[in-house]
Amino acid sequence: LPIQAPNLSECQTAGTSSGNNCCPPYSATILDYKFTPTGKLRVRRPAHKVDEAYLAKYKKAVELMKALPADDPRSFAQQANVHCAYCDGAYDQVGFPDLELQVHNSWLFFPFHRFYLHFHERILGKLIGDDSFALPFWNWDAPAGMTIPQIFTDPSSSLYDPLRDPAHQPPEVLDMDLGDAAPTPQRQIDLNLSIMYRQMRRGGSMENSPHGPVHVWVGDPRQPNGENMGIFYSAGRDPIFYSHHANVDRMWQVWKKLNPRNVDFTDQDWLDSSFLFYDEDARLVRVKVRDCLDPEMLGFTYQKVDLPWLSKRA
Ligand code: C2O
Repeated sequence: LPIQAPNLSECQTAGTSSGNNCCPPYSATILDYKFTPTGKLRVRRPAHKVDEAYLAKYKKAVELMKALPADDPRSFAQQANVHCAYCDGAYDQVGFPDLELQVHNSWLFFPFHRFYLHFHERILGKLIGDDSFALPFWNWDAPAGMTIPQIFTDPSSSLYDPLRDPAHQPPEVLDMDLGDAAPTPQRQIDLNLSIMYRQMRRGGSMENSPHGPVHVWVGDPRQPNGENMGIFYSAGRDPIFYSHHANVDRMWQVWKKLNPRNVDFTDQDWLDSSFLFYDEDARLVRVKVRDCLDPEMLGFTYQKVDLPWLSKRA
């Protein structure tokens, strides 16, 4: 059976492992989402290469989002809670009161996060009156992108989050498997490229690595659960989350272009699975997996950049 969108009126605080209330504001009206193309594609660019003008816009948009009232579903706090609600036991699966809805470790991982970023991006764009605004992607699959992107490290910026591992600030190189520290930064970069090769060419699970380790590596080890990035309920509170997931999402697309045999599932239950999100006008919408399989169906794309791991056999 397809996984049905959750029943918001039954969202529960009790039972979430974090004990947090991540339930969204309630709306009785649910619209079926139809993306309307505007003719303009939102082009997501590598976070380490954005220019000053873009950075100013992005910072402004997040600042405005953080300034929205806490009960506005488009506010930054509510956006972060979307992740918490879908991942921390706030919803049961419709028809299965004993089964919590969990979008990780399953086929729902890529489509859920694609839609999540899509609406987040549209809300940000709307706040600054720019309907071509696109999130940056954290290009951690390329050597120049294997540190926390500078745009997230300025403590006076809306993109900053104090709950991160202080030892993992640039120029510290990302450790994709959280293994023993590599002897040199160059060795770590090579290890990361081998992991990318393995996951993308040999059919590894992107969700296991590098997706998971990047979360844990960014999070603050002085917090009880590696908050913010290191645990589901709080991960969305760090603005870097959305860049991290833009790259995860980009890998779904890159994977499909690597080999004609790399195709999406055709299982109807998967295609008909649905989620609820609030859109940029604070309307509650229902989306279906079948409507997100190609980024251009949702009006965005990724700037083409080199894939240095392609030639990197482990
Ligand atoms: Cu929903 Cu990166 O986790």
